[in-house]
Amino acid sequence: MTVNGNRVKLRCLALALIGVVALTGLARGAPMVIRYSHVTADVTPKGQAAIKFKELAEKMFPGRVQVKVYPNSQLFGDDTEMQALLLGEVQFIAPSLAKFGRYTHQLQVFDLPFLFKDMAALERFEGGPAGRRLLASLAPQGMHGFGYLHNGMKQLSANTPLRWPHDAKGLRFRIQPSTVLAAQFVAVGAKPRKMAFADTFQALQSGQVDAAENPWSNIYSQGFHTVQKYIMESNHGALEYMVIGNARWWNGLPPDLQKGLAQAMAESIRYGNQIALREEATFRKQVIADRQAQVVTLTDAQLQAWRNAMQPVWKAFQAEIGKDLIDAALQAND
Ligand code: LMR
Repeated sequence: MTVNGNRVKLRCLALALIGVVALTGLARGAPMVIRYSHVTADVTPKGQAAIKFKELAEKMFPGRVQVKVYPNSQLFGDDTEMQALLLGEVQFIAPSLAKFGRYTHQLQVFDLPFLFKDMAALERFEGGPAGRRLLASLAPQGMHGFGYLHNGMKQLSANTPLRWPHDAKGLRFRIQPSTVLAAQFVAVGAKPRKMAFADTFQALQSGQVDAAENPWSNIYSQGFHTVQKYIMESNHGALEYMVIGNARWWNGLPPDLQKGLAQAMAESIRYGNQIALREEATFRKQVIADRQAQVVTLTDAQLQAWRNAMQPVWKAFQAEIGKDLIDAALQAND
């Protein structure tokens, strides 16, 4: 057989192979697997948003995209998930804004106690120029910000009622890894202990820490109310997330996939935020209905005392966070 003859034979073989592949559907290859990892339960706003993203993305790209959602720190806990994202081991995560300290100090504005008067103010800030700038600010670090996702306002919990700031004196509070949150508890004479979310229940149960702060959906879904005797309705700050993706992976996606997934992500964030606003009262009711912890309502005077005790933290972090950001947050309260 001549060289040319061999080439023809090979080409025929290749064409036949392509035909078989096309017929059997193998041409499309296996779907692209997209991992979305987070640390809360499925029932929380974040859990629901991640599930919604899976539904929308798989519906939009049948057979082309498969989204695997890993809730409850199953795949990565909050001490490893950002590293995993940057290494491309997961494509999406949604950490609390209190957990970005290693990458930026500006997001600490969200941790300042009693800064945002309610969720509507928070939304105004996030949708305004400062919020949008912060959302894009992590691109140089390899993180693409898709949007802000709510959980809800944080409540204090402890085994003694904390009506006044001095009631917290000496108590060990589990906190997220944020220097602002540490300062917030030091300001009332408490002892902050930075700890992963996944370890918190056990730490409260065993008495390794005495107290904590979290929104109703986390308190209920983690069972914190079963290991804390009192939940104070302090609403002293918000627990907010940023949904982020691995920027290099995201920027390398084919345009049609990127467009569709961006749409699915935006819709899933909207959905999660609606749940956060709508279901906060439901989670609170469930905690009360369980009759394990007593819910303590604070008077206006008590709330003002907490505010006065914690507010010096704003000034202490002003230089680090930026006065412009704090002012923009205050303007969003109007
Ligand atoms: C916490 O660590 O308390 C929260 O950030 C957990 C979460 O993701 O809601």
